[in-house]
Amino acid sequence: MILILGATGVVGRETVRLLTGRGLPVAAVTRNRQAVLPAGAFSVHPDEIPDLAEVRAVLLSPRAAGPAAAGVLTHARRAGARRIVVLSSVTVPHPAGEPRFREQFQAAEELAVGSGLDWTVLRCADFAANTLAWAGQIRGGDIVRGAYAQARTSTVDERDIAAVAALALAGPDHAGRTYLLTGPQSLSQPDKVATLGAVLGRPLTFAEVTPDAIRGGMIAAGLPAEVPDRLLGSQADYARAAGPAGDDVCRVLGRPARTYATWAEDHRAAFAGS
Ligand SMILES: NC(=O)c1ccc[n+]([C@@H]2O[C@H](COP(=O)([O-])OP(=O)(O)OC[C@H]3O[C@@H](n4cnc5c(N)ncnc54)[C@H](OP(=O)(O)O)[C@@H]3O)[C@@H](O)[C@H]2O)c1
Repeated sequence: MILILGATGVVGRETVRLLTGRGLPVAAVTRNRQAVLPAGAFSVHPDEIPDLAEVRAVLLSPRAAGPAAAGVLTHARRAGARRIVVLSSVTVPHPAGEPRFREQFQAAEELAVGSGLDWTVLRCADFAANTLAWAGQIRGGDIVRGAYAQARTSTVDERDIAAVAALALAGPDHAGRTYLLTGPQSLSQPDKVATLGAVLGRPLTFAEVTPDAIRGGMIAAGLPAEVPDRLLGSQADYARAAGPAGDDVCRVLGRPARTYATWAEDHRAAFAGS
């Protein structure tokens, strides 16, 4: 079976769907015993990982695994695992944002590479799904307020990450490879907001506000300080120099990476008013 950490996250959920769709058995790790999973996947609480037998491959989400990651790999190896795929970040080779976040990804990569398993590292750009954070503002009006308007990134569709992850988990062809997974276009924040407006059929405007205003709003909304730390640190750097872009999605999948416009169209309902 294939063990998926972060199975309810945007990448993990899609990876579970793709693998079960190919008839592969999946153990989906979640703390939520009520999590709804595709047929062919069964739910595993993190505490139950040591009880698993016959694990073939592991998808490691550094955030979901947290400090337990090394122990998970030890259990997976004992249960027969041969492969590990790690969800990392473009900030490892292209530093941006607070160093502590990049260091967490670097540590997860080193764990995978030193695990004795066949490893594949997926260094991901910012996920298109991150822009779901704008959904409330867009449902309620035509202005999106955010910091660092000129932050430019080649946002990746998380379904493309999952497609690469599923290939690397299911077979041996991607062992020892490190991929930079980005979208096909470098877009500023106003570009992304305009794309959403085009999909919704109404003009939307990005209004730049101070980083402190964004931070204050997030803290007031109950988010941990880590969320604005992670977001604002990288946006500040991407406003100075655009995030990296590459064509590994296309090379691995044999088709172009999905555009942000495609993602926006496919997630229209989340931004449309009631
Ligand atoms: N978002 C980006 O732009 C970006 C960019 C590069 C890399 N990454 C990395 O890519 C990986 C995949 O991200 P993802 O958004 O698909 O989801 P994820 O972080 O892999 O998974 C989220 C799930 O993990 C579980 N979880 C367990 N402990 C958690 C904790 N302390 N904080 C948050 N979630 C926890 C939760 O599931 P249950 O409640 O069901 O247990 C949650 O639904 C992450 O490691 C992330 O750091 C993200």
